[in-house]
Amino acid sequence: MASDWKLVIHGGAGGIERKSMTPDKDREVRAGLDRALQAGEQVLAGGGRALDAVAAAVCVLEDDPNFNAGRGSVFTWDETHELDASVMDGSTLAAGAVTGVSTTKSAVGLARAVLEKSPHVFLSHEGADRFAREQGLEQVANSYFSTPERRQQLERLKAHKVSALEVEYKFGTVGAVALDASGHVAAATSTGGMTGKRWGRIGDSPIIGAGTYADDRACAVSATGHGEHFIRVGVAHEICARIRLAGQSPQAAADAVMAEVKGLGGEGGVILVTPGGKTIYAFNSAGMYRGTASASGRSVAIYSDER
Ligand code: GLY
Repeated sequence: MASDWKLVIHGGAGGIERKSMTPDKDREVRAGLDRALQAGEQVLAGGGRALDAVAAAVCVLEDDPNFNAGRGSVFTWDETHELDASVMDGSTLAAGAVTGVSTTKSAVGLARAVLEKSPHVFLSHEGADRFAREQGLEQVANSYFSTPERRQQLERLKAHKVSALEVEYKFGTVGAVALDASGHVAAATSTGGMTGKRWGRIGDSPIIGAGTYADDRACAVSATGHGEHFIRVGVAHEICARIRLAGQSPQAAADAVMAEVKGLGGEGGVILVTPGGKTIYAFNSAGMYRGTASASGRSVAIYSDER
């Protein structure tokens, strides 16, 4: 049955307020979000699959240094980058995820290859990069992901012995959810994680059920925020389960789950799309980089008082 296609993206949530943004940064972020929407829109408007659309949109955000994914990823304590990503197809519950990736240019592209070209769901660290090389995915030096702004954040964290939340009170993880014209949903999420992470720390983004989930019987979800709390709540799967099994409305389910995250002391947000075409944002932070596209047009927003 033909559906109206829909696309929703995020580029991170957190203490994003007008007073903390320069006009240039505001403009660059909005332009980056719009480019990502255009990439996904090109797939969906042409009758393409939701899975292709979310991967295309997230790949554009990975290439944009304004977001904490791909180039522009935060630094680990050891001054390297370890990237995480996942994708899920709601029509089959097929999923692919990677963590600790250090030389593969597109972590979301690699997660997609895990879904399509491997018998597994989740690959990690050197093994994930080795699989990427075997699949012919583009490799880069780890320094490709570095930017001066991210290095300064790590230096502040180390110099002042503060937490990642204090040096960059923003979780710049990127993600996308889509509904295609065939009525199928998909989700993708990609991140550099948290500034100064160490000991092989893994956040929610590559964990199917925490940062990403898609199920044609409920919705597709991508999350951004303080990963530890999102893992503990199992955010993305919990939202789908509330819709599918408890009959909650998508907005009620998303709000209730984000309230649970807040109750544990966590901040961030989620984006959702349902097979019926409902698109939803829910965040408990001051702002969230976000955007939506459909046959009626595209729009992007940053602050909580924007529609
Ligand atoms: N939400 C991204 C992370 O915690 O790594």
